[in-house]
Amino acid sequence: SFRPLVFSGVQPTGNLHLGNYLGAIRRFVALQDSYDCIYCVVDLHSLTAQLVYPDLKDQIRAITAAYLAAGIDPKKHIVFNQSQVMQHAELAWIFNCVARIGWMNRMTQFKDKAGKDRENASLGLLAYPSLMAADILVYRATHVPVGEDQKQHLELTRDIAQKFNNDFSDRIAALGLGVEMKMGDEVVNGFFPITEPVIGGPAARIMSLRDGSKKMSKSDPSDLSRINLTDDADAISKKIKKAKTDPEALPSEIAGLAGRPEAENLVGIYAGLSDMTKEAVLKEFGGQQFSTFKPALADLAVDRLAPIASEMRRTLGDRAYIDAVLKDGGERAGVLAEATMKNVRDIIGL
Ligand code: ADP
Ligand code: NA
Repeated sequence: SFRPLVFSGVQPTGNLHLGNYLGAIRRFVALQDSYDCIYCVVDLHSLTAQLVYPDLKDQIRAITAAYLAAGIDPKKHIVFNQSQVMQHAELAWIFNCVARIGWMNRMTQFKDKAGKDRENASLGLLAYPSLMAADILVYRATHVPVGEDQKQHLELTRDIAQKFNNDFSDRIAALGLGVEMKMGDEVVNGFFPITEPVIGGPAARIMSLRDGSKKMSKSDPSDLSRINLTDDADAISKKIKKAKTDPEALPSEIAGLAGRPEAENLVGIYAGLSDMTKEAVLKEFGGQQFSTFKPALADLAVDRLAPIASEMRRTLGDRAYIDAVLKDGGERAGVLAEATMKNVRDIIGL
């Protein structure tokens, strides 16, 4: 069977926020103890929205600094930026020829990001999930921690792996490159693993502080909608104080959060930051007003995020160190990626 391996990535576009931290980076940190991990700054993905970012290199350094400040160990694991390892793009092209246009057209993120003027979106934006599949499968990663917003893309990664394994099953067998894996109760054989999502916990999807129906996002024009990882204590407190809520007290049971998305979101953030379940948070705060809960949440957020922000600033002060981490990670990732691509070229006869 495949060696357990984790891959995930974050785009170098804009400020990291609490959603990225609770939904992604904090999970990356937790998985380090049980898996070998590859954490990438996916700079090629950022080109799908616009081709030129004047400060792209600094954005890459900022994400890297966040990874390191949050506690990812670049010696035990691999931290690098995608464009250093061109095998990602090579495999993405092959996957563009494996995947079907209909699969891409169904992606809700494409519909959201392309908006009404779909004909004018970049072809890269449509093919984004192909590159994401390549990021994962070029290392034959078995597990991917992502927020719920990426679940559909990971499904597509699984579809691509499965179609490749089926289409080339004879070649894979002839070359002796098949690996056995369990799929439910069945044991199947393939070159690529059918990668599992690692989703869950109380903070898989953090919503905007201004609108409980939208996810917290870098691209939201309202800065009050999100807590940035680099916000200072005053900014964090102010944003939580201004967060949209309803006039009711907090319920003492989960069922009482139904139809109250803003309340549920704040309870989820508290649970995520404190490593408690939502049930336990409600046990503690049930019956209390937001005027009591919000200051407690603000204190907790400052307590958890301030050390990361200050460590990020410290790390960003040493550009040579960050660049050395990325270069070393890129070299190690490149060796692994090339080993896979050599097999892929053999399989398809290139
Ligand atoms: P964004 O969606 O803000 O542009 P990215 O696409 O770079 O951020 O996402 C980086 C990681 O952060 C992904 O794993 C994504 O699932 C996670 N993530 C982004 N927004 C949220 C959110 N609001 N809640 C939970 N996880 C999130
Ligand atoms: Na996203």
